[in-house]
Amino acid sequence: MLSFLTFRKKPIYELNEEDSSHSLNRTLGVKDLTMLGIAAVIGAGIFSTIGFASFHGGPAVSLLFVLIAITCGFSALCYAEFASRVPQSGSAYTYAYVTFGEIFAWIIGWALILEYAIGNIVVAISWSGYFNNLLQGLGIHLPYWMTTGYFSAEENVQHILELKNKGEAITPAMQQTLVDFANVPTLLDHKILLNFPALCIVVLITWIALIGIKESKNFSNAMVLLKLMVIFLVIGVGFFYVKPENWSPFMPNGFSGVLQGVSAIFFAYIGFDAISTTAEECKNPQKDLPKGMILSLVICTVLYILISLVLTGVVSYKELKVDDPLAYIFEALQMNWMSYIISISAVIATTSVLLVFQIGQPRIWMNMSRDGLLPKKFSSIHAVYKTPAFATLITGILVGIPALFLPISLVTDLTSIGTLFAFILVCLGVLALPKIKKEKHKFSIPYLNSLYVMPIVLGIILIVGYYYFSVPESMSSKVFYCIYTFIFLGFSVVAMLKKYNAIPVLGTLSCLYLLIEIPIKGWIGFIIWMLLGSIIYVLYGFTNSKNKKITQ
Ligand code: ALA
Repeated sequence: MLSFLTFRKKPIYELNEEDSSHSLNRTLGVKDLTMLGIAAVIGAGIFSTIGFASFHGGPAVSLLFVLIAITCGFSALCYAEFASRVPQSGSAYTYAYVTFGEIFAWIIGWALILEYAIGNIVVAISWSGYFNNLLQGLGIHLPYWMTTGYFSAEENVQHILELKNKGEAITPAMQQTLVDFANVPTLLDHKILLNFPALCIVVLITWIALIGIKESKNFSNAMVLLKLMVIFLVIGVGFFYVKPENWSPFMPNGFSGVLQGVSAIFFAYIGFDAISTTAEECKNPQKDLPKGMILSLVICTVLYILISLVLTGVVSYKELKVDDPLAYIFEALQMNWMSYIISISAVIATTSVLLVFQIGQPRIWMNMSRDGLLPKKFSSIHAVYKTPAFATLITGILVGIPALFLPISLVTDLTSIGTLFAFILVCLGVLALPKIKKEKHKFSIPYLNSLYVMPIVLGIILIVGYYYFSVPESMSSKVFYCIYTFIFLGFSVVAMLKKYNAIPVLGTLSCLYLLIEIPIKGWIGFIIWMLLGSIIYVLYGFTNSKNKKITQ
């Protein structure tokens, strides 16, 4: 009985009926969706976390951009297939509901909080870093203790001390950090270090989302154009200052060094899937949503690869462990005006990402609440502002408070795990969808027979692995690799025998590969998060689910 209830699926036709009853204004076309995709994708990843990945991976981080773009490409095609079949907002949560049933829908809905709300913590911290740069450029120096979270500061100081112990050169800025850290105020013997600008931007964005000032399409498009222009400027100007000797060695810390940047680079791609939450506002979701997702992914990929080559070509990768790498390389070239332009656009770029996710999260909660998996309050609409006020406020608290003190690296890992998890279920969901006839006016995922594709993929992996693979050092990595190899071989064989479409199969396997590359501390956080979600489901969702009420 229990399994019958919790695995009950939502029929696709039911969703489409609901769709028509709640219909919103259908105004978005391919161009708007592509712009929206770019608005959500280009942000903290390319302006901040790329620095960490380049420091560990060296110039070869550009290969990681390719590898992750391919992974995201498979997932984007699967999202596109769902967007075409189930044109309702709710993203992967809704897709899991129609294919696997309630319990999986809950798991994904819970994991998506990591992508949307927790991901926004990273974006808010990055926003704060660039905002601080701007203030300093204007001669305003906020005290160190109110611009950095405790754990970020501790991580940073640790890194500087390590460099010092190794006898490596310390920049004046690093020296200043050590002095600032030693002099922060204390309370009951504890250092007070809080990232106030990060909290302030979250409060502001939450307020905007709450009162429902929807950025006009034109304003949003203008912000995207500005981001793109700055990225072009960085590539165009930076290109002339590239010293090819900085690209050598291309892979200074081997392939394992490159893979240390997995979650940082994956983070840069997150967002193309967020446009699937706008299905109810698209003119032709079944055709335009897939196109918008794929186009935004392709555009961002090309730009990212070029940026990574410029970044690692202008200065040595060793200098890039900074929070504002794009601005940093121009400071290093004594081109302060460029660094200033980059800081202004980074502030704008990250603001638009914050807005997309801060509006997307309450929308997912609204869907979950309508299904009875969350209290009714989460779908209640404010009488005056006509927005999901409670869900928006909770999102603000969930993002703003941790942004005060958490380190960017832990939050990036958590976000990437949660998002990859959702991608995997969406890819597997495509395999579980019933077969239907192709219709000309709808997108449908191309069919590649696993029977032929998987042996080729296996061959390529064996050849590449022969040159680059090194046995991981830590015990946990060894265990992950063993489990992964079994899953890879087992799933490939089943896919070949059943002649599955290779695109979702490769999507699943490549996301899984990225997952095992994420450090163990991120996994511990993820497991705690999912346990918390399970408890809430058992205590609330299980008994209040609308699906359960239907069957009683
Ligand atoms: N991809 C988005 C960013 O980098 C989340 O900010």
